Amino acid sequence: MGRSELEKAREKVLALRREIDEHNYYYHVLDQPSLDDREFDRLMRELEELEEKYPGLQDPDSPTRRVGSKPLETFQTLEHKIPMLGLDNAFNEEELIDFDTRVRKLSGLETVEYFCELKIDGLAVSLQYEEGVFKRGSTRGDGYTGEDITGNLRTIRQIPLRLPEPLTLESRGEVYITKKAFEELNSRREREGLVNFANPRNAAAGSLRQLDPRLAAKRPLKLFLYGLGEHSLELKYQSELLDYLQKLQLPVNPHRSTCLGPREVLDYCRRWQDQRPGLPYEIDGVVVKVNDLGLQSELGFTARSPRWAIAYKYPPEEKITRILDIRVNIGRTGAITPVALLEPVTLSGSTVQRASLHNEDLIAEKGIMIGDCVVVRKAGEIIPEVLKVIEERRTGGEREFAMPRHCPSCSSDTVRLSGEAARRCLNPSCPAQLVEKLVHFASRRAMDIEGIGPAVAEMVYNSGLVSDVGDLYYLTAEQLAEMPRMAEKSADNLVSAIAASKENPLRRLLFGLGIRFVGEKAARLLAGRFETMDQLREAKEEELTAVDEIGPKIGEAVRQYFATPETGPVLDKLKRAGVNFTEPKVETASTDLEGKTFVFSGALENYTRDEAKALVEERGGRAGSSISKKTDYLVAGDDPGSKLDKARNLGVKIINESEFRELL
Ligand code: IVH
Repeated sequence: MGRSELEKAREKVLALRREIDEHNYYYHVLDQPSLDDREFDRLMRELEELEEKYPGLQDPDSPTRRVGSKPLETFQTLEHKIPMLGLDNAFNEEELIDFDTRVRKLSGLETVEYFCELKIDGLAVSLQYEEGVFKRGSTRGDGYTGEDITGNLRTIRQIPLRLPEPLTLESRGEVYITKKAFEELNSRREREGLVNFANPRNAAAGSLRQLDPRLAAKRPLKLFLYGLGEHSLELKYQSELLDYLQKLQLPVNPHRSTCLGPREVLDYCRRWQDQRPGLPYEIDGVVVKVNDLGLQSELGFTARSPRWAIAYKYPPEEKITRILDIRVNIGRTGAITPVALLEPVTLSGSTVQRASLHNEDLIAEKGIMIGDCVVVRKAGEIIPEVLKVIEERRTGGEREFAMPRHCPSCSSDTVRLSGEAARRCLNPSCPAQLVEKLVHFASRRAMDIEGIGPAVAEMVYNSGLVSDVGDLYYLTAEQLAEMPRMAEKSADNLVSAIAASKENPLRRLLFGLGIRFVGEKAARLLAGRFETMDQLREAKEEELTAVDEIGPKIGEAVRQYFATPETGPVLDKLKRAGVNFTEPKVETASTDLEGKTFVFSGALENYTRDEAKALVEERGGRAGSSISKKTDYLVAGDDPGSKLDKARNLGVKIINESEFRELL
């Protein structure tokens, strides 16, 4: 091969990379596409071909190498040299004025210049560049150590793999998903029978923590950078810092402004509170920072947060809409729940068209009628609720709602048992209840059969092939493929998921059967004590209640479950299908945590709080709720809050989720 040919190829490769990076920047950072997609794809293909032909020209930072090809086993942890702290909150205007008063007092200044930025509702990340090359990136974690998510961050086209200058610096920002992309992601998941993400923030968190970067690459993650960690730049103002990041072609939010004194800050906050619904992404407030970086370091930090910044938080979004109708849902225990069908509104990033009204007493208390204009909001940013009726908007055309006296699914009489708020359908063969039972059986914390959501459960029930959970194990791919909207591939996947669930331990099966009052914890205790379904089935009530924490209510419900004539055939079907009826013995090694006390704080990614506590208890440990000198470990998840400070002060050992997992 002539030297000149290789040289020519090298020049071409470098030119292509520059050109592609440039278009990437226009498209993903500036939002101004500079080339049509087909032309862009052509450039990428040309580069790929050259890199394949001349392996010597390959480069890990080439735009062709954004997406790695190997999934990780777990995330490595990365320490933050400068802690990634949270912010103090101001929940109203007075608290913001108080913040300004504190800053003025500490600084001795009469008027302070602030810099206001939108508070993006996503996840904090840190990006490390060495000599201009993107080397590593991590989550915030507990603020002191995060998880190495470099592979996933590399897939975000807004992040340059190389800076225009050979700088060594750490920049911090927020990864998010736009409202529109969130809706699209959820509708796709719905079509695929997957559970929806609750809000854009959860979707971003789930996507960033994919172990397989190829999957993360398919998620529409974006980011805004708002600060620096370790660096050696000489900068004087926060405003200058952001302009500088922008000059380095990093993504920076354009809606930022200096504000002189608290009045201007409040104007900024109010203005964005009004304009917030029109933004393409979610914000939960405004971050107000002292603009002078010298003054920032003078003010310094408390144990938890900087004294030079505060988050002005917006109240949860409220909207007015209309109740088009009130329908009822029948749960797996026959409880009938009224649900308001709403004229669709967007609330905190997603379209809301239903809200549970809980029970008839609540409807009466709020005076809700069909056709009413109502104020809705998302409680805890997740579950939509109807706050109140706007009576002035009544037209006279509204209708009273009455709970049905007959079950809409099976027509049996509905009853309201004394002492209960719910009206129920008591027919054990009610189709609606059976479908809900299937959904519960397949749910993640029970038998964990991916692909059986409400739509699929209803479909297999309607096919006539499945009338209880035992029948699931006899479905064939051919039968499933004949059902409406079921592709061959999904049918195969579903059959394998069902088969795989046979191996689950008894405790999951027990929980999945939906025995009244037997939640995850009771199921675990019972499975642990009796070890096989047969032994549990034969247990007398006093043997059941002899189990620590199993009271007469659960004991009676379990006995009744096994005595009901419908139960026998279901268990027989499960057994014949080879579903595991035993609980693996807790291994001796698993009393490791004997005598150790754990406290959990902040959200864990892989376990719910209850699951984590259960794991500790299974191994002989204790799960406490508050930190004391007797606590052995604080397991710090995302946003661990004040328990972290307390643990640190008392010298309690602090571990993160991966260390916890290892300990188990
Ligand atoms: S500054 C030490 N600026 O809000 C101060 N934070 O609890 C570092 N956030 O964890 C934060 N937008 O994830 C800052 N423009 C912004 C922000 C922002 C969103 C998040 C960040 C942080 C949390 C504050």
